[in-house]
Amino acid sequence: MKRLVALTAAAFLSLPLAPAIATPAGTPGAPGAGDPYFPGQGNGGYDAARYDLTLDYDPSSGRLSGLARISARATQALSRFNLDLVDTLTVRSVTVDGRRATHAQSGSELVVTPARTLRRGRDFSITVRYDGLPAHVIDPDGSMDGWIKTGDGVFNANEPQGAMTWYPGNHHMTDKAAYRFTVTVPRDRVAVANGDLVAKVSKGGRTTYVWNSREPMASYLATVSIGRFDLTDRRIGGYRVTTAVDPTVQAPGFPERHPPVLDFFTGLFGPYPFSSTGGIVDNAPEVGYALETQTRPIYPRAPSESLLAHELAHQWFGNSVTPTLWRDIWLNEGFATYSEWLWADKLGTQTVQAAFDEAYARPAEDEFWQSPPADPGGPENLFHAPVYDRGAMTLHALRLEVGDDAFFAILRAWAGRHKYGNADTAAFVALSERVSGEQLDTLFDAWLFKPGKPAM
Ligand code: TRP
Ligand code: ZN
Repeated sequence: MKRLVALTAAAFLSLPLAPAIATPAGTPGAPGAGDPYFPGQGNGGYDAARYDLTLDYDPSSGRLSGLARISARATQALSRFNLDLVDTLTVRSVTVDGRRATHAQSGSELVVTPARTLRRGRDFSITVRYDGLPAHVIDPDGSMDGWIKTGDGVFNANEPQGAMTWYPGNHHMTDKAAYRFTVTVPRDRVAVANGDLVAKVSKGGRTTYVWNSREPMASYLATVSIGRFDLTDRRIGGYRVTTAVDPTVQAPGFPERHPPVLDFFTGLFGPYPFSSTGGIVDNAPEVGYALETQTRPIYPRAPSESLLAHELAHQWFGNSVTPTLWRDIWLNEGFATYSEWLWADKLGTQTVQAAFDEAYARPAEDEFWQSPPADPGGPENLFHAPVYDRGAMTLHALRLEVGDDAFFAILRAWAGRHKYGNADTAAFVALSERVSGEQLDTLFDAWLFKPGKPAM
């Protein structure tokens, strides 16, 4: 009966346009994911599950040619969708499920119109062939981001918006995916990416490196960094530690420094979430920051003990558990800074309380206190001091309120419950109240949301 009615309605509606029955209309996917700090970042209408990136890079000419294969699922009936890719790279062709699709580039939006509408819920594959001379972008805070060229290759760090400078994708952090990187470079260079090194093959003066990153990853945590590097890949203390160190940088014992930090954090936060670890130590003094690129942070110089701890703590907080909006960045930086304090305490360098006291000693008139960490005010403030230091102080205030047992239970529950997912500040507040059994809005309001120096 129901069926008969549906057929009748369809027959009626389709009188003038017969093909409409076979191909439901569908609408274009949104050009952004709805993040107010970066409105064009990410895209609506589909979910990326997997990126298979085949890249060829020539450091002397700066030319990149790429083939991106993306597996995705339509989250609406989709007549058209966008990928994020800057138009300094030229797209040569796009296919959807193996059929030629039309494409148009405008700024950092690549608009793809498949030959037919994709039904909601359908799995589909996209291929994009592109090439050009990739370049970094300048962030709202003035820092460099993306494909940052160095004397011998590339320092590739993509937080918050650099991913669009070298591969097409759904580049908001809420769309995590698995990755495989197949990167060909001249034989005297190394290409380092996230995850496990699965192959290295040299042929005719060029070497291809294949990296597999199995666990879900946000675009801003992907890296393909290239240069002259000493590459090591070893099992140490139960971890697969893969490091790349620029030979012009002194970083003695770099691989061996990882397991003690990871063991310490595992004891506090729960199991290390990824199949391998390590780091990339480049010589890039022009880059003012390090980044917690997934499994394998990238450093512009040899890292101090606190920077190493900071980037490794991000593997739990930021990488495995990722915010939902850029505004919630304190969930990354406050936690990583607090982890630095924990590691310094463990080493006997400085107690957590002393680190808190030092940060808290800033006078109440200091501009520092005017910016609450959970509402930094705009993308130009993503990485400013209140996000890091007041974020860490918030965690210490929470710890003093609920006690050590409840506090570390909260951190473990946060890492466990949202493993490989996304979560926001409201979820952290709610979890803290649930685990501790305490009402905590006064504390969190004062520390996270209100300007002014909270009383202790
Ligand atoms: N997330 C990085 C860290 O603290 C910092 C970072 C990334 C950064 N991108 C940036 C700092 C841009 C300043 C500007 O580990
Ligand atoms: Zn950080």
